[in-house]
Amino acid sequence: MKTKINLLLILIFLSCGKSKSNNSNYLDKSENKQSSTTEHPGKKLLKNQCFVCHNPTISKESRIAPPMVAVKAHYISENTSKEKFTKDFVAFLQKPSKEKAKLKGAVNRFGVMPYQYYKKSHLEKIAEYIYDYEIQEPNWFSDHWKKRNGNSNYNQGKRVINQEKNKTTSEIGLEFVLGTKKVLGKNLMRTIQSQGTLKALEFCNEKAIHLTDSMSTKFNAIIRRVSDKPRNQDNLANKRENEVIEIYKKALIDSLDINPITEKNKDNIQFYYPIITNGMCLQCHGKPKEQIKSDLLLHLDKLYPKDKAKGYKENEIRGIWSISFKE
Ligand code: HEC
Ligand code: HEC
Repeated sequence: MKTKINLLLILIFLSCGKSKSNNSNYLDKSENKQSSTTEHPGKKLLKNQCFVCHNPTISKESRIAPPMVAVKAHYISENTSKEKFTKDFVAFLQKPSKEKAKLKGAVNRFGVMPYQYYKKSHLEKIAEYIYDYEIQEPNWFSDHWKKRNGNSNYNQGKRVINQEKNKTTSEIGLEFVLGTKKVLGKNLMRTIQSQGTLKALEFCNEKAIHLTDSMSTKFNAIIRRVSDKPRNQDNLANKRENEVIEIYKKALIDSLDINPITEKNKDNIQFYYPIITNGMCLQCHGKPKEQIKSDLLLHLDKLYPKDKAKGYKENEIRGIWSISFKE
């Protein structure tokens, strides 16, 4: 019973209080997937893939990227067609560059968006959602935009009334991942931006484990990042985790959809989700000397004499999230 209440608390926490709190049988109910809500698929992709950085609820001061509504405002003006918007949007994300960027101020402040592989079809769905709907925006944005541009019609589109639907177990798992990733990723990117890669190394070395630990306590779940080629031996994948890693490697090569894997064991739910490299990771996980600078390499070798986590390229399976929580 206690664990269920905890789970509920997590869900309430993660969905900003929108969750209903009147049933204690959340997971059992969530097994049945029928739901009358039809959420635009682009909305979900946007939340899962982009809000780690483009979070609309984060305060103005602690942001690490512009909110997505700022992107919308810069890309879509009165006469922008959906086709033109989608084309520009996808073109930027397939090869982000300073030259192509329309948000010059954001580039100055945060640096160019780090490249990450996204499926084209997914980007098109996200673009469609952004174009057709009024998207979630932080409450400071409206004043901020009006002051600079004098108009307030930057977030046009259909309005949806927010309906909570019952979450499936894999959605719950994904929320754990996003919650943890948000904290990890935010801290990592901010440290790299403000203090450089060497300092960020210290962060990963000293803080990453404690952070996942503290998220585990917060979520009452066991949250681990494991790898077949770990840097820290404590993060070595077990047999089942290695099988899952192989499944994801194959899925990535065959460009199949990457979905969470959820397994129901006797008294817990085991959830897996891949960790895929992007350009930013290679400063510490890429080719020695070429991408990992010599001074950093020196530190790494000292800290991790058995380090196997080098030589990665972009868009490879670096490891998986392995999360276990109780029903
Ligand atoms: C690791 C953090 C991060 C993630 C994840 C991320 N972005 Fe970004 N993005 C940024 C930053 C920082 C900027 C601002 C700098 C810039 O404009 O390049 C940005 C800017 C953008 C821009 C505007 C580019 C321009 O013209 O200036 C678009 C479009 C964009 N992001 C789309 C996306 C989409 C769609 C996703 C999810 C599929 C996503 N981003 C995920 C960090 C991120
Ligand atoms: C500033 C250097 C640095 C950057 C950048 C970095 N990492 Fe790491 N990473 C580390 C260190 C150091 C560890 C070992 C942490 C520990 O001791 O638990 C680590 C550990 C990991 C682990 C746990 C498994 C293992 O090998 O021990 C994963 C998974 C991981 N990193 C993925 C990534 C991904 C994905 C990115 C890019 C989004 C990234 N890292 C960027 C330094 C970095």
